[in-house]
Amino acid sequence: MSSSVFIKNIARLLQVEQNPPFEMARRGTEMKQLPSIDHAFLLIENGNIADFGSMEQYPTVPSYYTVIDAKGGYVLPTWCDSHTHIVFAATREEEFVYKIQGMSYEDIAAKGGGILNSARKLQAMSEDELFEQALHRLRRLIALGTGAIEIKSGYGLSTDAELKMLRVIRRLKAAVPIPVKATFLGAHAFPQAYRHNRNGYIRLIIEEMLPQIAAEQLADYCDVFCDKGFFTPEESNEILQAARRYGLKAKVHANELGITGGVQVAVENAAISADHLECMDEAAIAALANSDTFATLLPACAFFLGLSYAPARQLMEANVPIAIASDFNPGTSPTGNMNFVVSLACIKMKMLPEEAINAATLNGAAAMELQHECGTIARGKRGNVIITKPIPALAYLPYNFGDTSIARVLINGSEWLG
Ligand code: NIG
Ligand code: FE
Repeated sequence: MSSSVFIKNIARLLQVEQNPPFEMARRGTEMKQLPSIDHAFLLIENGNIADFGSMEQYPTVPSYYTVIDAKGGYVLPTWCDSHTHIVFAATREEEFVYKIQGMSYEDIAAKGGGILNSARKLQAMSEDELFEQALHRLRRLIALGTGAIEIKSGYGLSTDAELKMLRVIRRLKAAVPIPVKATFLGAHAFPQAYRHNRNGYIRLIIEEMLPQIAAEQLADYCDVFCDKGFFTPEESNEILQAARRYGLKAKVHANELGITGGVQVAVENAAISADHLECMDEAAIAALANSDTFATLLPACAFFLGLSYAPARQLMEANVPIAIASDFNPGTSPTGNMNFVVSLACIKMKMLPEEAINAATLNGAAAMELQHECGTIARGKRGNVIITKPIPALAYLPYNFGDTSIARVLINGSEWLG
């Protein structure tokens, strides 16, 4: 199919922005807004959104356009998944069974399971095999409506293996037609050999990994797992400040397992986002409210681990911009299905459908600094859209959890055929 395509008979075109300057993000009560046009058309030219409007203003369609009849489906921008770990060597269903039997995530990690288990397997796998596996996952995610994604390293935990992961992510960037952002997460866990030499591992990250990553331009961001049992705020600050000197902005895994200052570390380091936030207090909410840092909530992780959910409503009331993301990884969220994540945001975090869709589109894009090219239906942005089957109402999308309402996915105006 050509990338110049005319979509007609759209029952509702969601998340439209008529005129520049386009919004950077939505926060607070703005998150309830999802501007839309009923009975609409959408024109994508050379991969980018060229025009849209009511079917009453249906233009004459030149013969070189491919015409798609949406047949009464809705059209919305593809999901922007701003937090994933899709490069991994093996799934961890044995730990899933331990959890059913009563072990906690921390118990499993303390026994050498968890991230260290993934690191052992990843270190032993070739770059080519990791790439093939991750590409397979990524292609599947695009079919599920993901049109922009962030991918982290962090299962290497040695210089060679972290660089291998980041090179895999670089190859993924070149292999798929959607924007991919790479995040260095060397500070995901302390390797076994450094358990009693934490400073030694931090020196390795700062003095060996970061310079090579910067030299090869392998990462866009630097993340740290600043949480109970993992990296302290002081250790996290040191790493994020060093990363900043190499031009890498911060993202932080914060407040998943405890209230240990991760959110404050994110804010102090002007992080793009503080992610997880299952364990929050007033001080952490206030810190975010007085910053430009996004709260990226990962309800599939809370669901899978049986954690309490992040306080989405309180964060919105505090005017904090919220993104939602899948956290796709083998230990805490073995799904990257953003349709399910949007449902969970509504069902478990009591976000309204409009709020959840904003969090998974425009705000997700902004949490990867991609809001200028993705996240809304606006002229000049990428023609990355989901066309749904005919649905009775917007709320049906998250309501219909566990199934899919997607009929087609277009990436840069071309139908994604897997
Ligand atoms: O985002 N919380 C830390 N890191 C990942 C999980 C990593 C793992 O268990 O493999 C997360 O949930
Ligand atoms: Fe994560």
